[in-house]
Amino acid sequence: MNRLSTFLLPVLLSTVILSCKNAPAPPAPVAEKPVQAVGYDEKHRLQLHFSPPAKWMNDPNGMFFYEGEWHLFYQHYPDSSVWGPMHWGHAVSTDLVHWQNLPIAIYPDSSKFIFSGSAVIDWKNTSGFGTDGKPPLVAMFTIHDQALEKKGGNSHESQGIAFSNDRGRTWTKFTGNPVIPNPGGVADFRDPKVIWDEARAQWVVAIAVGQHDELWHSPDLKKWTKLSEFGTGLGAHDGVWECPDIFPIKVVGTEETKWAWLVNLNPGNPNGGSGTQYFIGDFDGKNFTIDPDFAKNVQKGKAVWLDWGKDNYAGVTFSDVPKTDGRRILMGWMSNWEYANKVPTEAWRNAATLPRELILKKTGAGYRLFSRPVKELEKLRDGTADFLGTEIAGQVDITQKLGFAPTYSEWSLEFELPEKLVGRFGIELSNAKNEKYRVGFDASKNAFFSDRTKSGDLSFSKTFGSKISLATRSETAKTVKMRVFFDNSSMELFADDGSVVMTEIFFPTDDFSKINLFAEGGKAVLTKGTAYRLRSAWR
Ligand code: FRU
Repeated sequence: MNRLSTFLLPVLLSTVILSCKNAPAPPAPVAEKPVQAVGYDEKHRLQLHFSPPAKWMNDPNGMFFYEGEWHLFYQHYPDSSVWGPMHWGHAVSTDLVHWQNLPIAIYPDSSKFIFSGSAVIDWKNTSGFGTDGKPPLVAMFTIHDQALEKKGGNSHESQGIAFSNDRGRTWTKFTGNPVIPNPGGVADFRDPKVIWDEARAQWVVAIAVGQHDELWHSPDLKKWTKLSEFGTGLGAHDGVWECPDIFPIKVVGTEETKWAWLVNLNPGNPNGGSGTQYFIGDFDGKNFTIDPDFAKNVQKGKAVWLDWGKDNYAGVTFSDVPKTDGRRILMGWMSNWEYANKVPTEAWRNAATLPRELILKKTGAGYRLFSRPVKELEKLRDGTADFLGTEIAGQVDITQKLGFAPTYSEWSLEFELPEKLVGRFGIELSNAKNEKYRVGFDASKNAFFSDRTKSGDLSFSKTFGSKISLATRSETAKTVKMRVFFDNSSMELFADDGSVVMTEIFFPTDDFSKINLFAEGGKAVLTKGTAYRLRSAWR
């Protein structure tokens, strides 16, 4: 440590190299007109993420790729910024980064809300909905009959379908709905995720049924028969097993294929409120059988989490991604039912997470899903700063050296895990009002953490800022890697190449304009570090 750092700064920043590079221009927008002119410039409005043009959004729904477009539908209430009669909002993108808002795709009728679900391309026109030799697009969703719910009897949720023959621009509800009626007295019977099971040439749908999930199958998306049940006695069970997803996925670097089952539950998140657990196993066309090694991690209430942060919920994956692309891409809802209706944004409320590629690896602990932000996000980079060989003890303000505000930025940092450090190290964002947000690693707990306890407006919820969120580290390597995205009012951490993920939102009353690196209880050594300024995907 040099004199300057000993006497003046408790921190040493030894080498900082700053450079600016220009990334390619964003692609031309798709042809359709936006649903309404929106500025995307309100307070807290996210610039790297999809958020609705106005009012309320929750779960992403019905995501698929077709004819060059990524389609995103979402639970939407266009008349209010709190949850209400559910519609399917709609947006498309040619690159998963720049989204074009389209008119609402599916409306509720009278008391029948359109809850979450999925959509597929019916390539063989098994449903007969297709015209002109083109495959129809078929959406499957839950019909939540509010009037029936009020009457009691718990049979108000059933599954319906709708189809489109114009690239998803307009949708027609099937006159034979519901295609899967409520079995009778099952209060929570929802969120159908339909897939084409290629090996067996059948449609299979996963449905939430109280605190377990069920698989049903069909030849034509209209006539459905129950196949099997999954989940009783496995994993976390604090809430309904909603928004399931089931899909085959190759073990990276091998020819082996396993099946993954995602389950969203609320509450149940280890840090509070809504969370996503998953299971790895095999599917034989009827039953999902959990992998014996994996099973050891999900006994007696134990669970394996896709994201440990409080703000990634109801995530499901895109259907019909071309084989030439081959990725399994997930988007979640970047909020939590604990406070989603009350977060301090009025004109718009809530957003989707960044799209992430899921990768299945065979690790020492068994099969695990790793998450990686999609590579298309690199388009938003328009300036870089490299930090090399930096020793940190205490706080170091790197705002000047960075040369740009950290409000919209991406970080790729590698720390050498010190022998003696007993506290925390990481990144701190702050503003002139001394509001702070911190993300980093807590050596004493062997856990990554997200600390929004002093991050600005916490008044809207008792639980939002009451605790630091923790995510147990699964790797044992000496190098701790952190890839972080900051977007005005959100943070996404992909630690150790995506083996541990945390997504959390925050609401500083002024933008976070200052950035520190910090280490407490010893020194931390940053061996590699790059920061990118990110440009808005909306302006
Ligand atoms: C999950 C969820 C789903 C339901 C939808 C209603 O966040 O509760 O189970 O279909 O939201 O908007």
